[in-house]
Amino acid sequence: MDVFTLAARPDLEDQLWDLTRSWPRFMLQDPIADLYYSELDRWSEHVLIGVDAGTVIARGFSVSFSMGDEHRPSLPVDGWDGIVRWSYLDRLADRAPTHVSALEIAIAPENMGAGLSSQMVHAMIANVDRLGFQQLLAPVRPSAKHEEPTTPMEEYAHRRRPDGLPHDPWMRVHARLGAEIIGVCPRSMTISGTLAEWREWTDQAFDASGTLEVPNALVPVHVDTDQDHAVYVEPNVWMEHRWDG
Ligand SMILES: CC(C)(COP(=O)(O)OP(=O)(O)OC[C@H]1O[C@@H](n2cnc3c(N)ncnc32)[C@H](O)[C@@H]1OP(=O)(O)O)[C@@H](O)C(=O)NCCC(=O)NCCS
Repeated sequence: MDVFTLAARPDLEDQLWDLTRSWPRFMLQDPIADLYYSELDRWSEHVLIGVDAGTVIARGFSVSFSMGDEHRPSLPVDGWDGIVRWSYLDRLADRAPTHVSALEIAIAPENMGAGLSSQMVHAMIANVDRLGFQQLLAPVRPSAKHEEPTTPMEEYAHRRRPDGLPHDPWMRVHARLGAEIIGVCPRSMTISGTLAEWREWTDQAFDASGTLEVPNALVPVHVDTDQDHAVYVEPNVWMEHRWDG
C-alpha cells in the first residue's frame, strides 16, 4: 500500500468517500462531523489515502487545533466532537493551531485484518511531523468494545494483556507505535435521533424505553419512547503519540 495526502492526489477524492461503508450507519449521524468533512479541501494536507494497485483501500483524517490557554487548558471530555468544534472555532477566530488530533482511520472491509491499520497510524505520525508538530493525539474508538457494551470504558481502556499491551486490538496498534493512554473522554460523540431515524440507521425495533444494545455500538443507546427520541453517547480514549523529531 502506498499512502498519499489528498493534496498530492486530489484525483482520489471520490474513492475516498467509498470507504464510508467501513462504518456502521448510525456512526455517520453525528452532526458535528459536517464541520470537518464538508470542508475537506481545507484539510487536504491532513487527509491520507492508502492505495493499492490504483484502488483506495485505507483512509486517515487528522485535524489541527489550538489548546493550552486558560480557555482550553487540557483535552476536552467531549473528545472527537470537542476537537472538531475547537478547530472550526479556531478558524473563525483566526487562531494558530498548536496540536493535531487523529479523527479517523478506516480500512476497506475486504482489506481489514491484514495489518494495514498500523501502517496508516505510522503514515499519520510521519505526516504530522512533516507539518511541523511533535505530537499526535487521538480520541481512539476501541475496536472490540462493542463486544461488551455494558463494561465502563474506564475499566475497559486500562485492561491489559499479560505482555503489558492493551486488551483492545486498536488501542494495541497505537500502543505498539509508542502511544500512551491519557484518559477516557466519556462523551466523545453524541448522536441523537427520533425513533424512526434510529430504526432506519440500525434495523432495531426501538419499541421500549430504557437502554438498548445496538450492534457495533460501544455502549448502550438511551431510548425514550414517550419523547420519541434516542441518544447515543460514545466514550473514546485519548491516546498520545509524542516524538522529538
Ligand atoms: C479499526 C481498524 C482501522 C483496524 O484495522 P484492521 O485492518 O481491521 O486491523 P489490523 O489487521 O491492522 O490489526 C490490528 C489489530 O487488530 C487485531 N484484529 C484485526 N481484526 C480483528 C478482529 N476481527 N477481531 C479481533 N482482533 C482483530 C489484529 O490482530 C491486530 O492486533 P495485534 O497486532 O495485536 O494482533 C479497522 O477495523 C476499521 O477500519 N474499522 C472501522 C473504522 C474504525 O472503527 N476505525 C477506528 C476508529 S477511528
